[in-house]
Amino acid sequence: MSQQKTFLVFGASGQTGQHFVALALKEGQKVRALVRTPSKLAFKSPDLHIQQGDISEVSDLDALVQGTDFVIAMLGNAQMQKKTKINTAFVQRLVPAMRRQGVKRLLYQAGGLSKPPGRPLPAALWVVRNTIARSYIGQHKDNEAVMEYLTDEASDLEWMVHRAGIGSNGPSKGVLARSEKDFSIATFADCAAYNYRTLMDPSAVHTCDLSCYRKG
Ligand SMILES: NC(=O)c1ccc[n+]([C@@H]2O[C@H](COP(=O)([O-])OP(=O)(O)OC[C@H]3O[C@@H](n4cnc5c(N)ncnc54)[C@H](OP(=O)(O)O)[C@@H]3O)[C@@H](O)[C@H]2O)c1
Repeated sequence: MSQQKTFLVFGASGQTGQHFVALALKEGQKVRALVRTPSKLAFKSPDLHIQQGDISEVSDLDALVQGTDFVIAMLGNAQMQKKTKINTAFVQRLVPAMRRQGVKRLLYQAGGLSKPPGRPLPAALWVVRNTIARSYIGQHKDNEAVMEYLTDEASDLEWMVHRAGIGSNGPSKGVLARSEKDFSIATFADCAAYNYRTLMDPSAVHTCDLSCYRKG
Protein backbone atom coordinates (compact mmCIF):
# COMPACT_ATOMS: atom_id res chain seq x y z
CA MET A 1 0.00 0.00 0.00
CA SER A 2 1.13 3.54 -0.61
CA GLN A 3 1.54 5.87 2.36
CA GLN A 4 -1.24 5.65 4.93
CA LYS A 5 -3.63 8.62 4.75
CA THR A 6 -6.00 10.02 7.36
CA PHE A 7 -9.64 10.60 6.43
CA LEU A 8 -11.87 12.86 8.52
CA VAL A 9 -15.42 11.57 8.09
CA PHE A 10 -18.69 13.37 8.88
CA GLY A 11 -21.80 11.19 8.62
CA ALA A 12 -19.80 8.02 9.37
CA SER A 13 -22.81 6.37 11.02
CA GLY A 14 -25.04 6.96 7.98
CA GLN A 15 -25.94 4.66 5.12
CA THR A 16 -23.10 5.77 2.83
CA GLY A 17 -20.77 6.63 5.68
CA GLN A 18 -20.72 3.15 7.24
CA HIS A 19 -19.62 1.65 3.92
CA PHE A 20 -17.04 4.39 3.47
CA VAL A 21 -15.44 3.81 6.89
CA ALA A 22 -15.34 0.04 6.32
CA LEU A 23 -13.64 0.51 2.96
CA ALA A 24 -11.09 3.07 4.12
CA LEU A 25 -10.07 0.82 7.05
CA LYS A 26 -9.88 -2.21 4.73
CA GLU A 27 -7.59 -0.21 2.47
CA GLY A 28 -5.27 0.39 5.43
CA GLN A 29 -6.12 4.06 5.96
CA LYS A 30 -6.73 5.92 9.21
CA VAL A 31 -10.23 7.24 9.90
CA ARG A 32 -11.23 10.02 12.27
CA ALA A 33 -15.02 10.30 12.68
CA LEU A 34 -17.34 12.72 14.43
CA VAL A 35 -20.57 10.89 15.31
CA ARG A 36 -23.50 11.69 17.56
CA THR A 37 -23.93 8.07 18.67
CA PRO A 38 -20.63 6.15 18.69
CA SER A 39 -22.40 2.82 19.33
CA LYS A 40 -23.83 3.04 15.77
CA LEU A 41 -20.30 2.41 14.45
CA ALA A 42 -19.66 -1.29 14.88
CA PHE A 43 -16.06 -1.21 13.62
CA LYS A 44 -13.15 -1.88 15.93
CA SER A 45 -9.76 -0.88 14.62
CA PRO A 46 -6.66 0.83 15.98
CA ASP A 47 -6.90 2.99 12.84
CA LEU A 48 -10.38 4.30 13.77
CA HIS A 49 -10.66 7.26 16.11
CA ILE A 50 -14.22 8.22 17.04
CA GLN A 51 -15.18 11.54 18.60
CA GLN A 52 -18.68 11.96 19.92
CA GLY A 53 -20.34 15.17 18.76
CA ASP A 54 -22.92 17.05 16.70
CA ILE A 55 -21.99 19.13 13.65
CA SER A 56 -24.12 22.01 14.98
CA GLU A 57 -22.30 22.13 18.27
CA VAL A 58 -18.74 20.94 17.69
CA SER A 59 -16.42 23.60 19.06
CA ASP A 60 -13.01 22.07 18.29
CA LEU A 61 -13.26 21.76 14.51
CA ASP A 62 -9.62 22.80 14.11
CA ALA A 63 -8.48 19.94 16.33
CA LEU A 64 -10.59 17.48 14.33
CA VAL A 65 -9.23 18.73 11.00
CA GLN A 66 -5.59 19.04 12.08
CA GLY A 67 -3.30 16.45 10.51
CA THR A 68 -5.88 14.90 8.18
CA ASP A 69 -5.34 14.41 4.45
CA PHE A 70 -8.93 14.23 3.22
CA VAL A 71 -12.27 15.44 4.60
CA ILE A 72 -15.54 13.84 3.55
CA ALA A 73 -19.12 14.75 4.47
CA MET A 74 -21.96 12.28 3.91
CA LEU A 75 -24.40 14.14 6.15
CA GLY A 76 -28.17 14.24 6.09
CA ASN A 77 -31.13 14.93 8.32
CA ALA A 78 -34.15 15.41 6.05
CA GLN A 79 -36.50 16.48 8.89
CA MET A 80 -34.12 19.12 10.23
CA GLN A 81 -33.22 20.30 6.71
CA LYS A 82 -36.88 21.16 6.06
CA LYS A 83 -36.45 23.99 8.58
CA THR A 84 -32.79 24.95 8.44
CA LYS A 85 -29.70 24.61 6.24
CA ILE A 86 -27.74 22.74 8.88
CA ASN A 87 -25.15 21.32 6.43
CA THR A 88 -24.45 24.72 4.85
CA ALA A 89 -23.91 26.29 8.26
CA PHE A 90 -21.51 23.46 9.10
CA VAL A 91 -19.55 23.64 5.82
CA GLN A 92 -19.22 27.40 6.32
CA ARG A 93 -17.38 26.63 9.57
CA LEU A 94 -15.51 23.60 8.24
CA VAL A 95 -13.90 25.39 5.28
CA PRO A 96 -12.19 28.10 7.39
CA ALA A 97 -10.97 25.39 9.78
CA MET A 98 -9.51 23.49 6.81
CA ARG A 99 -7.79 26.67 5.62
CA ARG A 100 -6.32 27.31 9.05
CA GLN A 101 -5.03 23.73 9.26
CA GLY A 102 -3.73 23.59 5.68
CA VAL A 103 -6.06 20.71 4.71
CA LYS A 104 -7.17 21.13 1.13
CA ARG A 105 -9.28 18.24 -0.12
CA LEU A 106 -13.02 17.94 0.70
CA LEU A 107 -15.69 15.69 -0.81
CA TYR A 108 -19.31 16.54 -0.04
CA GLN A 109 -22.02 14.05 -0.95
CA ALA A 110 -25.24 15.65 -2.18
CA GLY A 111 -28.02 14.13 -4.27
CA GLY A 112 -28.62 13.82 -7.99
CA LEU A 113 -31.82 15.87 -7.55
CA SER A 114 -29.85 18.84 -6.21
CA LYS A 115 -29.13 21.43 -8.92
CA PRO A 116 -25.44 22.17 -9.53
CA PRO A 117 -24.45 25.86 -9.66
CA GLY A 118 -24.60 27.39 -13.13
CA ARG A 119 -26.09 24.28 -14.73
CA PRO A 120 -29.72 23.32 -15.22
CA LEU A 121 -31.36 20.29 -13.65
CA PRO A 122 -32.96 18.23 -16.44
CA ALA A 123 -36.78 18.54 -16.58
CA ALA A 124 -37.29 14.86 -15.70
CA LEU A 125 -35.30 15.32 -12.48
CA TRP A 126 -37.35 18.42 -11.53
CA VAL A 127 -40.49 16.31 -11.91
CA VAL A 128 -39.10 13.56 -9.63
CA ARG A 129 -37.90 16.16 -7.12
CA ASN A 130 -41.31 17.86 -6.94
CA THR A 131 -43.39 14.67 -6.78
CA ILE A 132 -42.14 11.39 -5.32
CA ALA A 133 -39.04 12.97 -3.73
CA ARG A 134 -40.91 16.03 -2.43
CA SER A 135 -40.18 15.29 1.21
CA TYR A 136 -36.45 15.77 0.53
CA ILE A 137 -36.71 19.28 -0.92
CA GLY A 138 -35.18 20.83 2.21
CA GLN A 139 -32.21 18.50 1.85
CA HIS A 140 -31.74 19.48 -1.79
CA LYS A 141 -31.95 23.20 -0.98
CA ASP A 142 -29.35 22.73 1.75
CA ASN A 143 -27.08 20.74 -0.60
CA GLU A 144 -27.51 23.42 -3.29
CA ALA A 145 -26.49 26.13 -0.82
CA VAL A 146 -23.38 24.09 0.04
CA MET A 147 -22.47 23.80 -3.67
CA GLU A 148 -23.00 27.55 -4.17
CA TYR A 149 -20.88 28.40 -1.15
CA LEU A 150 -18.05 26.13 -2.27
CA THR A 151 -18.20 27.50 -5.82
CA ASP A 152 -18.37 31.17 -4.81
CA GLU A 153 -16.23 31.25 -1.72
CA ALA A 154 -13.90 28.25 -1.55
CA SER A 155 -12.07 28.08 -4.86
CA ASP A 156 -8.77 27.94 -2.93
CA LEU A 157 -9.73 24.48 -1.59
CA GLU A 158 -9.78 21.25 -3.60
CA TRP A 159 -13.47 20.54 -3.01
CA MET A 160 -15.64 18.17 -5.01
CA VAL A 161 -19.33 17.31 -4.77
CA HIS A 162 -20.81 13.89 -5.55
CA ARG A 163 -24.47 14.26 -6.60
CA ALA A 164 -25.31 10.67 -5.78
CA GLY A 165 -28.28 8.64 -6.92
CA ILE A 166 -28.91 5.88 -4.40
CA GLY A 167 -31.63 3.29 -4.38
CA SER A 168 -30.73 0.43 -2.11
CA ASN A 169 -28.34 -0.98 0.44
CA GLY A 170 -27.86 -4.13 -1.63
CA PRO A 171 -24.65 -5.64 -2.97
CA SER A 172 -22.44 -3.93 -5.50
CA LYS A 173 -23.91 -3.45 -8.97
CA GLY A 174 -20.66 -2.30 -10.58
CA VAL A 175 -18.21 0.54 -10.63
CA LEU A 176 -19.46 4.11 -10.70
CA ALA A 177 -17.77 6.74 -12.84
CA ARG A 178 -18.16 10.50 -12.72
CA SER A 179 -20.56 12.02 -15.26
CA GLU A 180 -21.97 15.49 -15.94
CA LYS A 181 -25.22 14.16 -17.42
CA ASP A 182 -25.74 10.46 -16.77
CA PHE A 183 -26.57 8.93 -13.46
CA SER A 184 -27.40 5.54 -12.01
CA ILE A 185 -29.50 4.48 -9.09
CA ALA A 186 -26.65 2.91 -7.20
CA THR A 187 -26.11 1.07 -3.94
CA PHE A 188 -24.71 2.76 -0.85
CA ALA A 189 -21.63 0.51 -1.04
CA ASP A 190 -20.93 1.55 -4.62
CA CYS A 191 -21.38 5.22 -3.75
CA ALA A 192 -18.97 4.87 -0.85
CA ALA A 193 -16.40 3.20 -3.13
CA TYR A 194 -16.89 5.99 -5.69
CA ASN A 195 -16.34 8.60 -2.96
CA TYR A 196 -13.14 6.87 -1.84
CA ARG A 197 -11.70 6.80 -5.37
CA THR A 198 -12.90 10.28 -6.27
CA LEU A 199 -11.38 11.92 -3.20
CA MET A 200 -7.97 10.90 -4.54
CA ASP A 201 -8.72 11.96 -8.13
CA PRO A 202 -7.42 15.47 -8.88
CA SER A 203 -9.57 15.66 -12.04
CA ALA A 204 -12.68 15.75 -9.82
CA VAL A 205 -11.64 18.98 -8.09
CA HIS A 206 -14.28 21.75 -8.42
CA THR A 207 -16.90 19.46 -9.99
CA CYS A 208 -20.49 18.84 -8.85
CA ASP A 209 -21.06 15.74 -10.97
CA LEU A 210 -23.35 12.74 -10.97
CA SER A 211 -22.19 9.12 -10.95
CA CYS A 212 -23.10 6.41 -13.40
CA TYR A 213 -22.19 2.71 -13.64
CA ARG A 214 -19.41 2.04 -16.15
CA LYS A 215 -20.57 0.04 -19.14
CA GLY A 216 -18.90 -3.18 -20.20
N1 LIG B 1 -30.28 8.15 1.08
C1 LIG B 1 -30.40 8.30 -0.23
O1 LIG B 1 -31.16 7.58 -0.91
C2 LIG B 1 -29.62 9.36 -0.93
C3 LIG B 1 -29.71 9.42 -2.30
C4 LIG B 1 -28.94 10.36 -2.97
C5 LIG B 1 -28.17 11.26 -2.25
N2 LIG B 1 -28.14 11.21 -0.89
C6 LIG B 1 -27.34 12.22 -0.19
O2 LIG B 1 -26.24 11.63 0.47
C7 LIG B 1 -25.96 12.34 1.67
C8 LIG B 1 -25.87 11.33 2.79
O3 LIG B 1 -26.97 10.50 2.71
P1 LIG B 1 -27.07 9.07 3.42
O4 LIG B 1 -28.40 8.51 3.05
O5 LIG B 1 -25.84 8.29 3.23
O6 LIG B 1 -27.08 9.54 4.94
P2 LIG B 1 -28.00 9.04 6.16
O7 LIG B 1 -28.09 7.56 6.18
O8 LIG B 1 -29.25 9.84 6.18
O9 LIG B 1 -27.06 9.47 7.37
C9 LIG B 1 -26.80 10.80 7.60
C10 LIG B 1 -25.58 10.90 8.48
O10 LIG B 1 -25.49 12.26 8.90
C11 LIG B 1 -25.33 12.27 10.31
N3 LIG B 1 -25.86 13.48 10.90
C12 LIG B 1 -27.04 14.07 10.67
N4 LIG B 1 -27.19 15.17 11.42
C13 LIG B 1 -26.03 15.26 12.16
C14 LIG B 1 -25.57 16.16 13.14
N5 LIG B 1 -26.32 17.22 13.53
N6 LIG B 1 -24.35 15.98 13.67
C15 LIG B 1 -23.58 14.92 13.30
N7 LIG B 1 -23.97 14.01 12.37
C16 LIG B 1 -25.19 14.19 11.82
C17 LIG B 1 -26.11 11.06 10.78
O11 LIG B 1 -25.77 10.76 12.09
P3 LIG B 1 -26.77 9.93 13.06
O12 LIG B 1 -26.44 8.48 12.77
O13 LIG B 1 -26.37 10.38 14.41
O14 LIG B 1 -28.16 10.31 12.69
C18 LIG B 1 -25.66 10.05 9.76
O15 LIG B 1 -24.39 9.57 10.06
C19 LIG B 1 -27.05 13.41 1.81
O16 LIG B 1 -26.56 14.65 1.34
C20 LIG B 1 -28.13 12.95 0.87
O17 LIG B 1 -28.83 14.03 0.29
C21 LIG B 1 -28.82 10.27 -0.21
